[in-house]
Amino acid sequence: MTHEPAAEVAVIGGTGFYSFLEDPVEHVVGTPYGAPSAPVSVGTVAGRRAAFLPRHGPHHELPPHRINYRANLWALRSLGVRQVLAPCAVGGLRDDVAPGDVVVPDQLVDRTWGRAQSYVETGAVHVPFADPYCPRVSAAVVAADERVRHGGTMVVVEGPRFSTRAESRHYAAQGWTLINMTGHPEAVLARELGQCYAAIALVTDMDAGAESGAGVGQEEVFARFAANLDRLRGLLATAIGNLGDPDGCTCSTWADGIELTYEVP
Ligand code: ADE
Repeated sequence: MTHEPAAEVAVIGGTGFYSFLEDPVEHVVGTPYGAPSAPVSVGTVAGRRAAFLPRHGPHHELPPHRINYRANLWALRSLGVRQVLAPCAVGGLRDDVAPGDVVVPDQLVDRTWGRAQSYVETGAVHVPFADPYCPRVSAAVVAADERVRHGGTMVVVEGPRFSTRAESRHYAAQGWTLINMTGHPEAVLARELGQCYAAIALVTDMDAGAESGAGVGQEEVFARFAANLDRLRGLLATAIGNLGDPDGCTCSTWADGIELTYEVP
């Protein structure tokens, strides 16, 4: 276990991002919430000290509802991380997105249940979450590749099953753009720790709402994600190079003057 500020920036993503870091060193990090999904790899990307944490574990053994999201964000913060980029697979809900698109959402709807989604155990600490994603980190990702779309609402469902056609049509009818199983509570926990966080959503399928076809299956999702790994790695490296200083960002200044009832590591 280490408390050295080893990294400034982190990527939480699939195991395919392991090869992303130069000269990686593994850190086994304990937290008051238990173990994170895996040891955290710390190395260099675009001249920045960067960490990588495989969200689903080193062998993709953790389904979305079993990920220890609190331990993951805490472990990264205890290594010094203040900016988090979170690539994820998503289903598309509307015909203005298509498989292969990369979207940086600007809104989130929480349809998960039963997940530990806060570090607050006592007292009045109500984190502002009207804008759930960091504007600076989001802008750095969007600036990295002109094909990246900025904006859209991501609904996060409990899973691990995919949605029924009726659920999918319902989400689309709300005007929501994307559907995913891991984007919450990652985003809000980052906010509670004063970290800047942005999701980078790769559309892997068109969810179940299509009137024909068998509906979405996991082979389709994994294959589409694997096919886009190189592109995502390149995008992340350019975005990390673009990132400015987190100092003064609203993601951390919200806590100014508020007495936190948990200790930020
Ligand atoms: N992740 C990737 N595709 C998804 C979908 N259709 N529903 C929920 N999570 C997903």
